[in-house]
Amino acid sequence: MEYSANIRRIAINTGGGDAPGLNAVIRAATLAAHANGWEVFGIRRGYMGLLNDDVDGEPGMMELCADKVRGITHLGGTILGTTTRGNLFGLEPRQPDGTWGPNDPSRAIIDRFRELEIDALIAIGGDGSLKIAHRLFLKGLRVVGVPKTIDNDLGATDMTFGFQTAVDVATEAIGRLHSTAEAHQRVMVAQVMGRHTGWIALESGLAGGADVILIPEIPYSVDRIVDKIMERDRARRRFSIIVVAEGASVAGGSPSFVGETGRYGGIADRLADEIAAATGKETRTLTLGHIQRGGSPVPYDRNLALRFGAAAVHAVERGNFGSMVALQGKSVRSVPLGDAVNDIKRVPVDGEVVRTARRLGVSFGD
Ligand code: F6P
Repeated sequence: MEYSANIRRIAINTGGGDAPGLNAVIRAATLAAHANGWEVFGIRRGYMGLLNDDVDGEPGMMELCADKVRGITHLGGTILGTTTRGNLFGLEPRQPDGTWGPNDPSRAIIDRFRELEIDALIAIGGDGSLKIAHRLFLKGLRVVGVPKTIDNDLGATDMTFGFQTAVDVATEAIGRLHSTAEAHQRVMVAQVMGRHTGWIALESGLAGGADVILIPEIPYSVDRIVDKIMERDRARRRFSIIVVAEGASVAGGSPSFVGETGRYGGIADRLADEIAAATGKETRTLTLGHIQRGGSPVPYDRNLALRFGAAAVHAVERGNFGSMVALQGKSVRSVPLGDAVNDIKRVPVDGEVVRTARRLGVSFGD
């Protein structure tokens, strides 16, 4: 086979929050690259390992030989490590005036790729990391992106790996709340992740039999939630399960954040207080947090991740740089990276899944 891009050595990195399936992508991309006779290097913690010989006491770059990727398809996390810290690349270089602060290290990164004779990068990331990858591409780096996030909020791909695992974890938790809620005749408010989209809340809430699902795309009113709880009470269903996406907000209000961190948090407790005050019912909260991101990927995510990894290598073979692999319908294709990172995918409020939930009597608090 002829490779238009004339590749001998590639690198792989993982950036942003982890998602179950990262290791499966690394394994598939590495083995597919080896099958082409290429060498593969993993960069530790985003781009840190490229610019630092030592990252947390380990070499910044590691050669991904077959041994390194054996038996990792089912493992959560990422063998390369990742970072979401600070500025663009998680680095705080010293400025000319002696202070420490953000800088644009793209030139240094591209030079370092040249020095190490790395012909292309497979960048596995969410919208933040893929925006960085796109910037590097525009500056001359040969990049192929692979979309990951449990939030499923990246445009251009019907699904990101990690999402189904998060839905699985959340659904299991919501299911378990039913018996204890019923035993005590309580309202349970379960907060799930998803940033500014409600995909995890919608799919886990529907699968888990929630009575109320609150998502950022549909601002809620506490009165409507109370109506639903009292309607159930009158029907002798004296408990209710509410699933709230961390980024949901009351109509005319704004989402809840953890202090000044910019991280979503606190909506379940706020809502539970309001519901308890309005209904007089005992109300408890559960914030699922990072358990949705940890642990072994479900088979769907493993397979999607393996397909994405192999497809990314195929894109490198074809010299299709500045692209991202994506699931469209049943097929994995390549789409322009620039388009993909600019398009956040929100839950369609009149979509079929929302309509199905409404027909089943689920309230969206509107
Ligand atoms: O984007 C994935 C995600 O888990 C979001 O759902 C959540 O808001 C955020 O990351 C949490 O970030 P961190 O791990 O930095 O707390």
